[in-house]
Amino acid sequence: MEKVKLLYEGKAKRVYSTDSEDQFVIEFKDTATAFDGQKKAEIPGKGEANCLISSKIFELLTIRGIKNHYIRRLSEREMLVRSLKIFPIEVIIRNRVAGSMAKRLGLEEGKMLERPVVEFCYKSDELHDPMINEDHILALGLATESELSTIKEMALKTNEILIEFFRQCNLDLIDMKFEFGKDSQGEVYLADEISPDTCRLWELGTTTSWDKDRFRRDLGGVEEAYKEVKERVMSTPIESKARILIRLKPGILDAQGSVILNALRSLGFTEVLEVRTGKLLELKLDRKIDEPERIERMCKELLANPVMENYQWEWEE
Ligand code: TMP
Ligand code: ASP
Repeated sequence: MEKVKLLYEGKAKRVYSTDSEDQFVIEFKDTATAFDGQKKAEIPGKGEANCLISSKIFELLTIRGIKNHYIRRLSEREMLVRSLKIFPIEVIIRNRVAGSMAKRLGLEEGKMLERPVVEFCYKSDELHDPMINEDHILALGLATESELSTIKEMALKTNEILIEFFRQCNLDLIDMKFEFGKDSQGEVYLADEISPDTCRLWELGTTTSWDKDRFRRDLGGVEEAYKEVKERVMSTPIESKARILIRLKPGILDAQGSVILNALRSLGFTEVLEVRTGKLLELKLDRKIDEPERIERMCKELLANPVMENYQWEWEE
């Protein structure tokens, strides 16, 4: 897919049209900005890291049923996406107090929230992305009631999926910013990017930042942080397979085995003394289940007959 025309250049990305009306190419830049573009720097490797991280996360979200703009990755810093009309709203989800919420409410960073907080901001650098509420969104016609409820529901579901995924990367997802858009049919999709630029990520169990706060707050090790998150995300599986072998218990008559034994012997394979049959099930899962008890329960409650059958299972690498 060829880039045709530069449609928009943002602070961290460029968007191009393609020869297909419903597809855009997003190119990730190494430029980092903060405080509405007042602070600016080049961070070698950031564009590539954010493109790889976002692509992998959108693939995970697609598997988990969250409609999003991602089609495929074209190169280390280019992504092919569905062309959408972006709602002029930033959707922020917070699991712990940090950043502007800590400042606004005089709270300590790191405090766990009893439930995720959803905030909306109006996308405008000149106005410094002011916070708005659902009434503003509806009264100003920024989204319809049904679009807004879809956006909120998708954002909260995505948060749950990402908390679990980042936990597997040993990262605590503190908060994040999402953008949504709609296609020509009016279908709502999660858009933009999901990366250390748009999420706060702390080393699990600590307050060590592995995200753009290193740049915003001059904490040092900015390049390293993007690289670290990229490596952790890229090496974390988004799907897994379990292989389950179910066999009759020793001593239980295996009628099918006997038929096969007789057939083999009648073909002259007289060295075969016994045939025991079984079944092999391969399960594809949308995550690597931390608790193997779930597979155990699947075997016990449905897949194997505990009176007559034994089961064994393993993760397929
Ligand atoms: P905040 O605490 O500064 O409001 O940021 C909340 C989250 O939103 C945090 O994960 C960083 C992200 N964010 C952006 O993606 N873009 C922005 O312009 C800002 C201010 C925050
Ligand atoms: N993206 C924002 C900007 O430059 C700031 C941020 O992420 O903190 O302005």
